[in-house]
Amino acid sequence: MNILIMGGPGAGKGTMSAKIVEQYNVNHISTGDIFREEISSGSALGQEAKTYIDQGLLVPDEITNAMVKDYLEHLPDLKSGYLLDGYPRTLDQAKAFDALSKDSAMAVDVVIAMEIPFAALAERISGRRLCKSCGAIYHIHANPSKQEGVCDVCGSALYQRKDDTVESLQVRLQEYTRQTQPVLDFYEAKGLVKHINADQPIEAVWASVVGALKD
Ligand code: AP5
Ligand code: MG
Repeated sequence: MNILIMGGPGAGKGTMSAKIVEQYNVNHISTGDIFREEISSGSALGQEAKTYIDQGLLVPDEITNAMVKDYLEHLPDLKSGYLLDGYPRTLDQAKAFDALSKDSAMAVDVVIAMEIPFAALAERISGRRLCKSCGAIYHIHANPSKQEGVCDVCGSALYQRKDDTVESLQVRLQEYTRQTQPVLDFYEAKGLVKHINADQPIEAVWASVVGALKD
């Protein structure tokens, strides 16, 4: 099954992706995670992406499209499909990906749209903590680690993302409205979108996602 997961910053894409990957044996491809790995490694791509990401702006399409294409072409194991988290998020990305994937085994089967009022997102973003080592996602209130600042899964230190600031969040929300909403309309016209109420406790959101993937 080939799945796209879409939603605003902090809507819970990464949190649901971890569960989907565990249950459905798909390749998780998060463009945000890939960019952050490139930044950590100090690559030229990472250095360029960082100038946009730190401000909350989208990385230009030509960079992102080429990166995703390369990533998909070099997957070591195709597994049962893919889960794209955070891509495509502009209309040009959606069209480029459509040209690449349609009428092939890579064609999109379903688009999960995580819906939540923007007003709820500041709390999610400000309370998020991530594991430096394994990427596990926590929230200081909604999903705390057992020991403060330490990952339950691997024992590494937790950190806050550099773009998880109020200023960056405002820009990310504007980018979402201006650039990513049209992508949802693009897939809506193809009849692929499943709407999920993401403004519920994590287990309730998960139950809705499982239901949507069964249909
Ligand atoms: P990206 O990493 O994709 O960030 P984002 O879209 O802003 O989304 P987040 O990762 O912040 O949130 P999420 O929805 O994954 O939420 P999470 O599950 O962590 O992109 C970052 C940047 O990279 C972009 O701004 C851009 O610059 C660049 N980029 C990436 N892709 C690009 C592309 N295609 N084109 C161009 N540029 C691109 O959850 C958030 C918090 O809420 C956590 O603390 C979690 O524990 C908590 N939480 C989750 N679900 C619930 C729940 N149901 N109830 C309570 N708390 C919850
Ligand atoms: Mg994420």
